[in-house]
Amino acid sequence: MSSSSVPNAKPVKTTDLHIGAAEPGCKKRDPILVIDNVSRSFGGLKAVDVEHLEIPRGAITALIGPNGAGKTTLFNLLTGFDKPNTGAWMFDGKPLAGVPAFKVARMGQIRTFQLTKALALLTVMDNMRLGAKGQTGENLFRALIPSLWRKQETANEAKALDLLARFKLDTKKDDYAASLSGGQRKLLEMARALMSDPTLVMLDEPMAGVNPALTQSLLEHVLNLKSEGMTVLFVEHDMQMVRHIADWVVVMAEGRVVAEGDPHEVMRNPAVIDAYLGQHHDEDIGEDSDEQTKHVQDIKELLDDER
Ligand SMILES: Nc1ncnc2c1ncn2[C@@H]1O[C@H](COP(=O)(O)OP(=O)(O)OP(=O)(O)O)[C@@H](O)[C@H]1O
Ligand SMILES: [Mg+2]
Repeated sequence: MSSSSVPNAKPVKTTDLHIGAAEPGCKKRDPILVIDNVSRSFGGLKAVDVEHLEIPRGAITALIGPNGAGKTTLFNLLTGFDKPNTGAWMFDGKPLAGVPAFKVARMGQIRTFQLTKALALLTVMDNMRLGAKGQTGENLFRALIPSLWRKQETANEAKALDLLARFKLDTKKDDYAASLSGGQRKLLEMARALMSDPTLVMLDEPMAGVNPALTQSLLEHVLNLKSEGMTVLFVEHDMQMVRHIADWVVVMAEGRVVAEGDPHEVMRNPAVIDAYLGQHHDEDIGEDSDEQTKHVQDIKELLDDER
Protein backbone atom coordinates (compact mmCIF):
# COMPACT_ATOMS: atom_id res chain seq x y z
CA MET A 1 0.00 0.00 0.00
CA SER A 2 1.36 3.41 -0.83
CA SER A 3 1.47 6.03 1.85
CA SER A 4 -0.91 8.16 -0.21
CA SER A 5 -3.73 5.75 0.55
CA VAL A 6 -3.40 6.37 4.28
CA PRO A 7 -5.98 9.02 5.17
CA ASN A 8 -5.00 12.26 6.83
CA ALA A 9 -7.56 12.07 9.61
CA LYS A 10 -5.93 10.47 12.61
CA PRO A 11 -7.90 7.68 14.22
CA VAL A 12 -8.31 7.86 17.97
CA LYS A 13 -5.69 5.62 19.55
CA THR A 14 -6.38 3.49 22.58
CA THR A 15 -3.57 4.00 25.07
CA ASP A 16 -2.51 2.81 28.49
CA LEU A 17 -2.85 -0.82 27.45
CA HIS A 18 0.10 -2.35 29.27
CA ILE A 19 1.44 -2.60 32.80
CA GLY A 20 5.10 -1.80 33.46
CA ALA A 21 7.76 -1.51 30.77
CA ALA A 22 6.79 -2.18 27.15
CA GLU A 23 8.87 -5.31 26.65
CA PRO A 24 8.28 -8.74 25.11
CA GLY A 25 5.65 -10.60 27.12
CA CYS A 26 4.56 -7.56 29.13
CA LYS A 27 1.26 -7.72 30.98
CA LYS A 28 -1.81 -5.93 29.69
CA ARG A 29 -4.46 -4.23 31.80
CA ASP A 30 -7.26 -6.20 30.20
CA PRO A 31 -5.96 -9.01 27.99
CA ILE A 32 -8.37 -10.90 25.74
CA LEU A 33 -5.75 -13.48 24.75
CA VAL A 34 -3.05 -14.83 27.06
CA ILE A 35 -0.48 -17.13 25.49
CA ASP A 36 2.03 -19.27 27.41
CA ASN A 37 4.94 -21.30 26.07
CA VAL A 38 3.36 -21.95 22.68
CA SER A 39 5.78 -23.65 20.31
CA ARG A 40 5.51 -25.36 16.93
CA SER A 41 8.34 -27.02 15.03
CA PHE A 42 8.47 -28.16 11.45
CA GLY A 43 11.27 -30.71 11.23
CA GLY A 44 14.24 -28.99 12.81
CA LEU A 45 12.79 -25.51 12.45
CA LYS A 46 11.09 -23.86 15.42
CA ALA A 47 8.52 -21.78 13.57
CA VAL A 48 6.86 -20.48 16.75
CA ASP A 49 8.36 -20.22 20.21
CA VAL A 50 6.32 -17.71 22.20
CA GLU A 51 7.06 -17.68 25.90
CA HIS A 52 4.36 -15.27 26.99
CA LEU A 53 2.16 -12.86 25.08
CA GLU A 54 -0.96 -10.91 26.01
CA ILE A 55 -3.23 -9.22 23.48
CA PRO A 56 -5.14 -6.20 24.82
CA ARG A 57 -8.93 -6.18 24.61
CA GLY A 58 -10.80 -3.52 22.66
CA ALA A 59 -7.70 -2.33 20.81
CA ILE A 60 -6.05 -2.89 17.43
CA THR A 61 -2.82 -4.86 17.75
CA ALA A 62 -0.49 -5.30 14.78
CA LEU A 63 1.69 -8.39 14.58
CA ILE A 64 4.70 -7.57 12.43
CA GLY A 65 7.97 -9.26 11.57
CA PRO A 66 9.97 -10.42 8.56
CA ASN A 67 8.85 -13.16 6.21
CA GLY A 68 8.97 -16.53 7.92
CA ALA A 69 8.88 -15.02 11.44
CA GLY A 70 6.03 -17.35 12.40
CA LYS A 71 3.09 -14.92 12.30
CA THR A 72 0.77 -17.09 10.21
CA THR A 73 1.80 -20.21 12.11
CA LEU A 74 0.90 -18.47 15.38
CA PHE A 75 -2.49 -17.49 13.89
CA ASN A 76 -3.04 -21.10 12.81
CA LEU A 77 -2.26 -22.37 16.31
CA LEU A 78 -4.40 -19.84 18.14
CA THR A 79 -7.42 -20.51 15.92
CA GLY A 80 -7.22 -24.30 16.02
CA PHE A 81 -6.08 -24.74 12.39
CA ASP A 82 -2.83 -26.30 13.58
CA LYS A 83 -1.68 -27.95 16.81
CA PRO A 84 1.29 -26.74 18.86
CA ASN A 85 4.02 -28.98 20.24
CA THR A 86 3.75 -27.25 23.58
CA GLY A 87 1.78 -24.52 25.22
CA ALA A 88 -1.54 -23.20 26.35
CA TRP A 89 -3.57 -20.08 25.79
CA MET A 90 -6.72 -18.49 27.10
CA PHE A 91 -9.24 -16.56 25.06
CA ASP A 92 -11.57 -14.43 27.12
CA GLY A 93 -10.68 -16.48 30.17
CA LYS A 94 -11.35 -19.85 28.49
CA PRO A 95 -8.57 -22.34 27.67
CA LEU A 96 -8.40 -22.93 23.92
CA ALA A 97 -5.59 -25.45 23.40
CA GLY A 98 -7.03 -28.52 21.66
CA VAL A 99 -10.29 -26.76 20.71
CA PRO A 100 -11.02 -27.31 16.99
CA ALA A 101 -11.23 -24.36 14.61
CA PHE A 102 -15.01 -24.34 14.17
CA LYS A 103 -15.54 -24.20 17.93
CA VAL A 104 -12.94 -21.47 18.35
CA ALA A 105 -14.86 -19.45 15.75
CA ARG A 106 -18.14 -20.09 17.52
CA MET A 107 -16.63 -18.89 20.78
CA GLY A 108 -15.99 -15.53 19.14
CA GLN A 109 -12.41 -15.71 17.92
CA ILE A 110 -12.48 -15.55 14.14
CA ARG A 111 -9.70 -15.18 11.57
CA THR A 112 -9.15 -14.45 7.91
CA PHE A 113 -6.39 -15.94 5.79
CA GLN A 114 -3.29 -14.52 4.13
CA LEU A 115 -4.44 -16.26 0.93
CA THR A 116 -8.17 -15.76 0.84
CA LYS A 117 -10.33 -18.75 1.41
CA ALA A 118 -13.52 -17.36 -0.12
CA LEU A 119 -15.12 -20.36 -1.74
CA ALA A 120 -14.84 -19.54 -5.42
CA LEU A 121 -17.60 -21.83 -6.64
CA LEU A 122 -20.17 -20.51 -4.20
CA THR A 123 -22.01 -17.26 -4.60
CA VAL A 124 -21.12 -14.28 -2.46
CA MET A 125 -24.34 -14.79 -0.47
CA ASP A 126 -23.63 -18.48 0.11
CA ASN A 127 -20.16 -17.59 1.36
CA MET A 128 -21.83 -15.23 3.85
CA ARG A 129 -24.31 -17.90 4.95
CA LEU A 130 -21.40 -20.20 5.75
CA GLY A 131 -20.04 -17.58 8.11
CA ALA A 132 -23.19 -17.55 10.25
CA LYS A 133 -23.05 -18.94 13.74
CA GLY A 134 -25.32 -21.79 14.77
CA GLN A 135 -25.93 -23.26 11.33
CA THR A 136 -29.26 -24.96 10.93
CA GLY A 137 -28.88 -28.69 11.10
CA GLU A 138 -26.08 -28.46 13.63
CA ASN A 139 -28.60 -28.72 16.36
CA LEU A 140 -31.02 -31.58 15.84
CA PHE A 141 -33.73 -30.06 17.97
CA ARG A 142 -33.74 -26.82 16.00
CA ALA A 143 -33.45 -28.67 12.72
CA LEU A 144 -36.62 -30.60 13.51
CA ILE A 145 -38.64 -27.42 13.92
CA PRO A 146 -38.78 -25.69 10.51
CA SER A 147 -40.20 -22.45 11.89
CA LEU A 148 -37.11 -22.07 14.07
CA TRP A 149 -34.59 -22.53 11.32
CA ARG A 150 -36.58 -20.52 8.79
CA LYS A 151 -36.58 -17.63 11.20
CA GLN A 152 -32.84 -17.99 11.61
CA GLU A 153 -32.31 -18.21 7.84
CA THR A 154 -34.23 -14.97 7.35
CA ALA A 155 -32.26 -13.26 10.09
CA ASN A 156 -28.97 -14.51 8.63
CA GLU A 157 -29.91 -13.30 5.19
CA ALA A 158 -30.84 -9.85 6.44
CA LYS A 159 -27.58 -9.63 8.36
CA ALA A 160 -25.60 -10.80 5.32
CA LEU A 161 -27.24 -8.18 3.12
CA ASP A 162 -26.51 -5.49 5.64
CA LEU A 163 -22.84 -6.50 5.88
CA LEU A 164 -22.52 -6.84 2.09
CA ALA A 165 -23.90 -3.33 1.70
CA ARG A 166 -21.35 -2.00 4.20
CA PHE A 167 -18.58 -3.67 2.23
CA LYS A 168 -20.10 -2.52 -1.11
CA LEU A 169 -20.60 -6.08 -2.26
CA ASP A 170 -24.40 -6.11 -2.18
CA THR A 171 -24.75 -5.80 -5.94
CA LYS A 172 -22.58 -8.90 -6.26
CA LYS A 173 -24.52 -11.11 -3.89
CA ASP A 174 -25.55 -13.60 -6.57
CA ASP A 175 -22.16 -13.65 -8.34
CA TYR A 176 -19.70 -16.46 -7.82
CA ALA A 177 -16.89 -15.48 -5.48
CA ALA A 178 -14.54 -16.53 -8.30
CA SER A 179 -15.63 -13.48 -10.30
CA LEU A 180 -14.52 -11.02 -7.60
CA SER A 181 -11.19 -9.19 -7.67
CA GLY A 182 -8.54 -10.11 -5.09
CA GLY A 183 -9.44 -7.04 -3.03
CA GLN A 184 -13.15 -7.78 -3.16
CA ARG A 185 -12.45 -11.31 -2.00
CA LYS A 186 -10.58 -9.90 1.00
CA LEU A 187 -13.60 -7.70 1.74
CA LEU A 188 -15.88 -10.73 1.40
CA GLU A 189 -13.70 -12.66 3.81
CA MET A 190 -13.90 -9.87 6.35
CA ALA A 191 -17.65 -9.51 5.87
CA ARG A 192 -18.09 -13.26 6.27
CA ALA A 193 -16.03 -13.21 9.47
CA LEU A 194 -18.44 -10.65 10.91
CA MET A 195 -21.44 -12.94 10.31
CA SER A 196 -20.58 -14.78 13.53
CA ASP A 197 -20.52 -11.67 15.78
CA PRO A 198 -16.90 -12.17 16.82
CA THR A 199 -15.25 -10.66 19.87
CA LEU A 200 -11.73 -11.00 18.49
CA VAL A 201 -11.05 -10.59 14.76
CA MET A 202 -7.68 -11.85 13.51
CA LEU A 203 -6.70 -10.64 10.04
CA ASP A 204 -3.69 -12.14 8.26
CA GLU A 205 -2.40 -9.49 5.83
CA PRO A 206 -5.79 -7.94 5.04
CA MET A 207 -4.22 -5.41 2.65
CA ALA A 208 -1.87 -7.68 0.71
CA GLY A 209 -2.72 -7.76 -2.98
CA VAL A 210 -5.51 -5.25 -2.56
CA ASN A 211 -5.79 -2.56 -5.18
CA PRO A 212 -5.14 0.93 -3.72
CA ALA A 213 -8.71 1.98 -4.55
CA LEU A 214 -9.93 -0.54 -1.98
CA THR A 215 -7.25 -0.21 0.70
CA GLN A 216 -8.84 2.94 2.08
CA SER A 217 -12.16 1.26 2.65
CA LEU A 218 -10.53 -1.86 4.10
CA LEU A 219 -8.62 0.31 6.51
CA GLU A 220 -11.79 2.07 7.59
CA HIS A 221 -13.49 -1.27 8.08
CA VAL A 222 -10.70 -2.37 10.40
CA LEU A 223 -11.06 0.87 12.40
CA ASN A 224 -14.83 0.36 12.53
CA LEU A 225 -14.38 -3.08 14.09
CA LYS A 226 -12.74 -1.39 17.05
CA SER A 227 -15.34 1.34 17.30
CA GLU A 228 -17.99 -1.37 17.39
CA GLY A 229 -16.28 -2.90 20.42
CA MET A 230 -14.31 -5.72 18.79
CA THR A 231 -10.67 -6.51 19.40
CA VAL A 232 -8.46 -6.72 16.31
CA LEU A 233 -5.18 -8.58 15.87
CA PHE A 234 -3.75 -8.17 12.40
CA VAL A 235 -0.61 -9.15 10.52
CA GLU A 236 0.69 -6.45 8.20
CA HIS A 237 3.90 -5.59 6.41
CA ASP A 238 2.95 -2.02 5.56
CA MET A 239 4.49 0.10 8.30
CA GLN A 240 2.53 3.24 7.38
CA MET A 241 -0.66 1.39 7.89
CA VAL A 242 0.57 -0.18 11.12
CA ARG A 243 1.50 3.19 12.51
CA HIS A 244 -1.76 4.71 11.35
CA ILE A 245 -4.25 2.27 12.83
CA ALA A 246 -2.50 0.09 15.42
CA ASP A 247 -2.76 0.89 19.13
CA TRP A 248 -0.15 -1.71 19.98
CA VAL A 249 2.53 -3.56 18.00
CA VAL A 250 4.02 -7.00 18.62
CA VAL A 251 7.19 -7.84 16.69
CA MET A 252 8.11 -11.43 15.93
CA ALA A 253 11.35 -12.80 14.52
CA GLU A 254 12.39 -16.42 14.17
CA GLY A 255 9.35 -17.60 16.07
CA ARG A 256 9.83 -15.36 19.11
CA VAL A 257 8.36 -12.10 20.28
CA VAL A 258 11.33 -9.70 20.14
CA ALA A 259 9.62 -6.37 20.88
CA GLU A 260 6.30 -4.87 21.89
CA GLY A 261 5.11 -1.32 22.25
CA ASP A 262 2.95 1.43 20.88
CA PRO A 263 3.60 1.97 17.17
CA HIS A 264 5.73 5.09 17.62
CA GLU A 265 7.93 3.68 20.35
CA VAL A 266 8.33 0.24 18.89
CA MET A 267 9.74 1.47 15.59
CA ARG A 268 12.53 3.14 17.55
CA ASN A 269 13.47 -0.15 19.15
CA PRO A 270 16.76 -1.40 17.63
CA ALA A 271 15.47 -4.97 18.03
CA VAL A 272 12.93 -4.22 15.33
CA ILE A 273 15.45 -3.18 12.70
CA ASP A 274 17.63 -6.11 13.75
CA ALA A 275 14.70 -8.43 13.28
CA TYR A 276 14.28 -7.31 9.69
CA LEU A 277 17.97 -7.24 8.87
CA GLY A 278 19.10 -10.16 10.99
CA GLN A 279 17.40 -12.82 9.01
CA HIS A 280 19.36 -12.11 5.87
CA HIS A 281 22.71 -11.16 7.35
CA ASP A 282 24.45 -14.18 5.94
CA GLU A 283 22.25 -14.79 2.95
CA ASP A 284 22.84 -13.01 -0.16
CA ILE A 285 19.90 -13.41 -2.46
CA GLY A 286 16.42 -13.01 -3.36
CA GLU A 287 13.39 -10.89 -3.45
CA ASP A 288 12.81 -11.53 0.23
CA SER A 289 16.00 -9.78 1.05
CA ASP A 290 14.96 -6.77 -1.08
CA GLU A 291 11.64 -6.80 0.64
CA GLN A 292 13.18 -6.81 4.12
CA THR A 293 15.46 -3.94 3.16
CA LYS A 294 12.39 -2.06 2.06
CA HIS A 295 10.72 -2.71 5.41
CA VAL A 296 13.77 -1.33 7.20
CA GLN A 297 13.72 1.71 4.94
CA ASP A 298 10.03 2.21 5.67
CA ILE A 299 10.72 2.14 9.41
CA LYS A 300 13.55 4.64 9.02
CA GLU A 301 11.35 6.96 6.97
CA LEU A 302 8.67 6.82 9.60
CA LEU A 303 11.20 7.75 12.24
CA ASP A 304 12.42 10.68 10.13
CA ASP A 305 8.81 11.82 9.70
CA GLU A 306 8.45 12.02 13.43
CA ARG A 307 11.55 14.05 14.03
N1 LIG B 1 3.25 -26.46 7.05
C1 LIG B 1 4.56 -26.13 7.13
N2 LIG B 1 5.52 -27.05 6.93
C2 LIG B 1 6.83 -26.75 7.04
N3 LIG B 1 7.28 -25.52 7.36
C3 LIG B 1 6.38 -24.57 7.55
C4 LIG B 1 4.96 -24.81 7.45
N4 LIG B 1 4.31 -23.66 7.72
C5 LIG B 1 5.25 -22.74 7.97
N5 LIG B 1 6.48 -23.26 7.86
C6 LIG B 1 7.75 -22.57 8.12
O1 LIG B 1 7.64 -21.91 9.37
C7 LIG B 1 8.23 -20.63 9.34
C8 LIG B 1 7.21 -19.60 9.72
O2 LIG B 1 6.29 -19.45 8.66
P1 LIG B 1 5.03 -18.48 8.69
O3 LIG B 1 4.24 -18.73 7.47
O4 LIG B 1 4.35 -18.64 10.00
O5 LIG B 1 5.73 -17.05 8.64
P2 LIG B 1 5.08 -15.59 8.48
O6 LIG B 1 5.65 -14.77 9.58
O7 LIG B 1 3.61 -15.70 8.37
O8 LIG B 1 5.72 -15.10 7.12
P3 LIG B 1 5.09 -14.17 5.94
O9 LIG B 1 5.28 -12.74 6.41
O10 LIG B 1 5.95 -14.47 4.76
O11 LIG B 1 3.66 -14.55 5.73
C9 LIG B 1 8.80 -20.46 7.93
O12 LIG B 1 10.16 -20.81 7.96
C10 LIG B 1 7.99 -21.44 7.11
O13 LIG B 1 8.73 -21.90 6.00
MG1 LIG C 1 2.23 -15.19 6.93
